[in-house]
Amino acid sequence: MKEVRLNNGVMMPALGFGVYQIPAEDTERAVSEALGTGYRMIDTAASYFNEEQVGDALRHSGLKREEVFVTTKLWVQDYEYEDALRAFDKSARLLGLDYVDLYLLHKPYGNYYAAWRAAERLYKEGRVKAIGVTSFSDERLQDLFLHNEVKPAVNQLETHPFFQQEASNAFLSQEGIQHEAWAPFAEGKNDIWNNPVLKAIAGKHGRTVAQVVLRWLNQRGVVVIPKTVRRERMAENLDIFGFTLTGQEMQAIAGLDTGRSSIYDDTDLATTKYIGTHRIHD
Ligand SMILES: NC(=O)c1ccc[n+]([C@@H]2O[C@H](COP(=O)([O-])OP(=O)(O)OC[C@H]3O[C@@H](n4cnc5c(N)ncnc54)[C@H](OP(=O)(O)O)[C@@H]3O)[C@@H](O)[C@H]2O)c1
Repeated sequence: MKEVRLNNGVMMPALGFGVYQIPAEDTERAVSEALGTGYRMIDTAASYFNEEQVGDALRHSGLKREEVFVTTKLWVQDYEYEDALRAFDKSARLLGLDYVDLYLLHKPYGNYYAAWRAAERLYKEGRVKAIGVTSFSDERLQDLFLHNEVKPAVNQLETHPFFQQEASNAFLSQEGIQHEAWAPFAEGKNDIWNNPVLKAIAGKHGRTVAQVVLRWLNQRGVVVIPKTVRRERMAENLDIFGFTLTGQEMQAIAGLDTGRSSIYDDTDLATTKYIGTHRIHD
């Protein structure tokens, strides 16, 4: 598996397996198959309610702890300092791990400064190997690292052909923060699988639209974590390093950018209120 080096020296696989929206009862099977297919990075979150089943799959895989890179995320409800430490303990217990490779603040709402300081403590204690954020705008991210000690290693952002995040990609690269894509396939929106530009490029390489999208992200230096519950698609999504998109093809895909989210609008007050106050436990 190809890897990237994070700003603290930790090595992270360039491609992993996302488990958002995989029901708990299907997660152990899906993660076991993904590990069997060759994935060595799993991306979960407290709010996905499947950390325990990810842990079951890891335990039964026969792989050594250091062979698999595990990411989980802290939900906004637990963004006070002590709450964050407690929430981490719960995630680690459910996962059955004594350390997590990457711990992310899941959303840029609430008291994320307190949450970040808790994440810094976990990092210093060695309970997490790297810390980062998701869906932080460049300004919020900059403010966070200007007023804290540990610079985030990763910002996981919605990134796909219809929302390419070009400015954030440049900012993150300049700051040495790894850009990771969530929803690399836009969760199937915008009729991505039938997009004529992507289909034409896929046809030229004898590849699929999914492989072209993942390779395009990879060639932009973006880490990807596609989700699928189907074994044949797991293999398809992993097999992206045997071809290279030309500059012209990269340009053609650049032309698909709409500059806005296909999934949720973080400038919409009703949406941000809902997410920022959503509770995942009592
Ligand atoms: N930080 C955040 O706030 C955040 C938000 C969303 C997601 N994420 C992370 O990012 C990961 C990926 O994003 P996502 O799950 O939202 O969406 P996604 O990976 O963009 O798309 C998943 C969809 O694509 C389908 N699919 C996967 N591979 C395919 C292929 N080769 N051909 C055709 N269809 C294919 C899947 O269907 P099947 O399963 O039926 O194959 C599913 O419907 C998540 O699992 C999660 O770990 C993070």
